[in-house]
Amino acid sequence: MLKRLLTVKDLSVQFKTPEGFVTAVNELNFSLNVGETLGIVGESGSGKSQTAFALMGLLAKNGQTSGSALLNDRELLGLKEKALNKIRAEEIAMIFQDPMTSLNPYMKVGEQLMEVLKYHKGLSKSEAFNESVRMLDAVKMPESRKRMGMYPHEFSGGMRQRVMIAMALLCQPKLLIADEPTTALDVTVQAQIMGLLNELKYEFNTAIIMITHDLGVVASVCDKVLVMYAGRTMEYGTVQDIFYRPTHPYTLGLLEAIPSLDDAKEELHTIPGNPPNLLHLPKGCPFVPRCEFSIETCLSKPPKLDYFGEYQLRACYRKVEELKA
Ligand SMILES: Nc1ncnc2c1ncn2[C@@H]1O[C@H](COP(=O)(O)OP(=O)(O)O)[C@@H](O)[C@H]1O
Ligand SMILES: [Mg+2]
Repeated sequence: MLKRLLTVKDLSVQFKTPEGFVTAVNELNFSLNVGETLGIVGESGSGKSQTAFALMGLLAKNGQTSGSALLNDRELLGLKEKALNKIRAEEIAMIFQDPMTSLNPYMKVGEQLMEVLKYHKGLSKSEAFNESVRMLDAVKMPESRKRMGMYPHEFSGGMRQRVMIAMALLCQPKLLIADEPTTALDVTVQAQIMGLLNELKYEFNTAIIMITHDLGVVASVCDKVLVMYAGRTMEYGTVQDIFYRPTHPYTLGLLEAIPSLDDAKEELHTIPGNPPNLLHLPKGCPFVPRCEFSIETCLSKPPKLDYFGEYQLRACYRKVEELKA
């Protein structure tokens, strides 16, 4: 039986700005079972990171949430700092695009790992040392003992990201949120890190939320995919649904934008235009100005999410069979 870990219901994130309120995340609904991986995909500015920050209690001061996010049966939204500090690392851990945002440049990597274990698990120095080495081994860090005594700048980008993964998994969180963890790395290292996360999720039975702007990245690691645009769900389904039966023009555009290995010389297809300014959203579907399938109705109001088949959800006025170029 699949066991439910996270249930997100009508999650919205609003920011107060001098020009007015901005809704960066607009009534998201998704769920995650124990050990499952969800991909959240969309171009820059879609609201992916703010979704993660909302779950972790890390929103900027001018941000506020509404809705609900239950981890097991515990409401995450609105928790006090003290409770959040415990939940972070012990139940939910996050890795960021740039490891240097979470690593202290003046502290040896080993000390930083041991610190986490001493603080959260109350381990002794020698226990924390052994456990840190074990975790560096788990993320396939060569010469892990020696690396314990090195500073972050002595590591390559890929190795630093391995340290971050090790640190995130130290307390065996039930949920790992990886926010564009490989974007700053070159393609080969990207693939290695994705492969590693895939192995670790089985080893530690960790559920993962994989955030990326690159739909290609989710294919090999995710069970479910949420496609976001302008803070809204455009499409939500299993990874097979999204790749083999995409039902939304935005998903179609993202699929075409995946670089394939064999046509390296071909020009990369991108969706024309840019994501909208959240302060001046179109009245209808936010994707309208860029959508090659838009019709009059699309300008009226944002389309509601509707089922396509039993589980897949889509927000589009056009019928799926009409979405043929
Ligand atoms: N502190 C803030 N104040 C006002 N608006 C913000 C703030 N942080 C984020 N936003 C808005 O939220 C949008 C979505 O941000 P984000 O979730 O970071 O996008 P991404 O999908 O690239 O991770 C941004 O484009 C911006 O308009
Ligand atoms: Mg982001």
